Amino acid sequence: MRVMDLHMNTAVFNLTHVTKQFGNLAALHDVTLQIAPGERVALVGPSGAGKSTLLSLLNGTQQADAGQVQLLGQDVAQLSTRQLRAVQKRIGTIYQQFHLVDNLAVIHNVNAGQLGRWSLGRALLSLLRPSDVTTVYDALHKVGIPEKLYERTGQLSGGQQQRVALARVLVQNPDVILADEPIASLDPERAREIMDLLSQLAQEMGKTLVVSVHAIEFAYSHCERIVGLRDGRILFDAPASQVTPEQVQALYKIEA
Ligand SMILES: Nc1ncnc2c1ncn2[C@@H]1O[C@H](COP(=O)(O)OP(=O)(O)OP(=O)(O)O)[C@@H](O)[C@H]1O
Ligand SMILES: [Mg+2]
Repeated sequence: MRVMDLHMNTAVFNLTHVTKQFGNLAALHDVTLQIAPGERVALVGPSGAGKSTLLSLLNGTQQADAGQVQLLGQDVAQLSTRQLRAVQKRIGTIYQQFHLVDNLAVIHNVNAGQLGRWSLGRALLSLLRPSDVTTVYDALHKVGIPEKLYERTGQLSGGQQQRVALARVLVQNPDVILADEPIASLDPERAREIMDLLSQLAQEMGKTLVVSVHAIEFAYSHCERIVGLRDGRILFDAPASQVTPEQVQALYKIEA
């Protein structure tokens, strides 16, 4: 039985007084944040605010220098490498630059989601079983590009590649989807489509979603909660319907 089955009400993420330093710079400073199962949360804030750093703590690729980080009910600092990897398999991440292997057919990139983020090499070498093909095809169908199954990934448009990255996460079938500016390299129409897909799939499949975005309107339109970060601190954390224009202005304000 998995930990989440035992503690249905456990927060997906529980950060307490977390600080993350890079040299003298505190990229995150005294951050306390809880995210519950099924929530859709937007991270917003100016460049350098700490959004990517926060997401890297949430997927366990970086560790805090102070404070406590619990991922899916488990204290990261207490986990062995093997235990951490088991937790990480349940957390899927999508990036602005897609992180796909251009030279491979779409099917192989998507199937890599099945084998976990540490064994991409094995995924690439593996001969796909018919059941794998079905799984990959179903995921591509969900993201709207089933016809691209055997195409070379590098030939696809940016929007299509982000769909491939999303399909890979669907195949991974994590409890949580993290997305670090998933729409930053897309035109406005493609950006909207990807945000629609992300929030719709997260809702349908009951997954928690934490997504950083620069365009604040997508935080309002696609998430139920908005966390505003500035200089490594949480400036506000509220239901999207309660975040005011004044708060947003203060978030992006240029210091005189
Ligand atoms: N690996 C690193 N080494 C040194 N400094 C880093 C590292 N990663 C982040 N930083 C610094 O930490 C701060 C927060 O960076 P982060 O990438 O989290 O910001 P962000 O909110 O994601 O910004 P953007 O909107 O530009 O992506 C920045 O000042 C950045 O320069
Ligand atoms: Mg960033």
